[in-house]
Amino acid sequence: MVNAQPPKNMLTVRDNRTGKVVDIPIQDNSIPATAFKVLKAPRAEGEREENETEKGLRIADKGFLNTAVIRSEITFIDGDAGVLRYRGFPIEQLATKSSHLETAYLLIYGSLPTASQYKVWQDEVLHHGVMHSDAEQFFKSFRYDAHPMAMLTSAFAYLGSYYSEANPSLQGQKLFTKGDPESLAVMDKQIYRLIGKATTLAAMAYRVRQGRNFVTPPTGLSYTGSFLYQMDHLGEENYKPHPVLEKALDVLFLLHADHELNASATTVLQTGSSLVDPYSAIAAGCASLYGPLHGGANEAVIRMLISIGKPENVPGFLEAVKRKDKVLSGFGHRVYKTSDPRSFIVRQIADEVFRVTGKDELLETAMALHHEAMKDDYFVKRKLAPNVDFWSGLIYRAMGFPLDFFPVLFAVPRVVGWLAHWRQMMLQEGGVKIWRPRQIYVGPGKRDYVAVDERVAEEGPRLTPSPVVHSG
Ligand code: SDX
Repeated sequence: MVNAQPPKNMLTVRDNRTGKVVDIPIQDNSIPATAFKVLKAPRAEGEREENETEKGLRIADKGFLNTAVIRSEITFIDGDAGVLRYRGFPIEQLATKSSHLETAYLLIYGSLPTASQYKVWQDEVLHHGVMHSDAEQFFKSFRYDAHPMAMLTSAFAYLGSYYSEANPSLQGQKLFTKGDPESLAVMDKQIYRLIGKATTLAAMAYRVRQGRNFVTPPTGLSYTGSFLYQMDHLGEENYKPHPVLEKALDVLFLLHADHELNASATTVLQTGSSLVDPYSAIAAGCASLYGPLHGGANEAVIRMLISIGKPENVPGFLEAVKRKDKVLSGFGHRVYKTSDPRSFIVRQIADEVFRVTGKDELLETAMALHHEAMKDDYFVKRKLAPNVDFWSGLIYRAMGFPLDFFPVLFAVPRVVGWLAHWRQMMLQEGGVKIWRPRQIYVGPGKRDYVAVDERVAEEGPRLTPSPVVHSG
């Protein structure tokens, strides 16, 4: 229906194929994509039936550059101003005043806990840090040099196999969407388990890599302190992690806890929209984070710095990046078009850690790279600036973590954000709709089966499977 003088909060669209004009309501600076389905048109001369023109317009948005798929109250980012807020609290304030576990409560339940609420929360999370002893066999089934993210991703799905009571496929699909006290209790227990055991699973993956026995989560230490203890304890009496390193890692965990609909959080929601159990959804998110474009970038940054070597090699490397022969890992972001606010805090943490561990020899190269890239028109024009991964790897290296363990140090805290978004979707108004995007089909039109002796071989790269040379 078209108004003669449409109200201001409407988008008026005219389809020139038919002359049809529609007014589409604008809500929260967005319009519903389904509103365009009313714009149907007869198929044009020679147009493919697969375009489904008569069925209404579709919205094309490769890579989700401008598509909102959920209403969220959790995290807000202003990419132009370099603003990041968890439930309205600026990240800079949380980084200096809060802790990872307190921020986890904030992200998941929406408010800062009172002292008594926090004690219950912390006690439950730490209580659920212990893993079933059978998990030792699971982790020992990996080769010692298996990538820790492969172990962690598998471990989250494995973890879910212990809890049939948390599996909607067994208990009924409404297990987590009812929102009644019983359903919330089951949900919260899985949240305790996943956050509590994320550090334990990560530490077990680390011990596999080091060829060492597993360490039972200690009592009396903080969440992050317990994590460091489980990785580093080698039988010393009364071992305690270094307080500066424990605090630095806790702030890094807090900074990595959530980042609205990044690729891995979106993966958790895409997977969770089928109402699968949260362990499987978290495992999917972990797999997405593993990629070098996302959480794997902190590992890629160090490999990049090692390949550059000395600061005097930076200009040559940047030229290779401009030729698109190389990628400047740790730079660029889909949302931030200025420096990631977390990168400034990570940079400060690096100096605090280096005062304990000694400066990492790659720091000079990283600083030279940062300095040159930030004033180079190629990067300035593309609004490429350091993201959270640019400096964090230097800290992890200085703390002695193996290079391929760095993404694990991203995944462990990000379990909090994944759970916050998963819980929000399970409880959202109107219930959960399965996420099932549309496509624009440009493949072959209808064709008939061809008997094998009448076929003409398709040849050429990508058209046939690559041959494999078998050794032995
Ligand atoms: C994280 O989404 C999140 O919130 C993620 C995260 C979180 O907390 O969850 O913040 C964590 O994943 C941070 C990002 C870590 N990844 C990296 O550091 C990998 C390097 N960065 C790039 O791969 C890239 O910047 C992305 C993937 C992060 C963003 O890619 P976009 O938004 O799709 O940007 P694009 O690829 O369209 O780039 C636009 C232009 C292109 O050049 P032109 O084609 O216009 O000539 O910028 C170029 C790109 O080639 N470009 C880069 C570059 N990033 C983009 N060129 C060199 N080096 C880079 N790093």
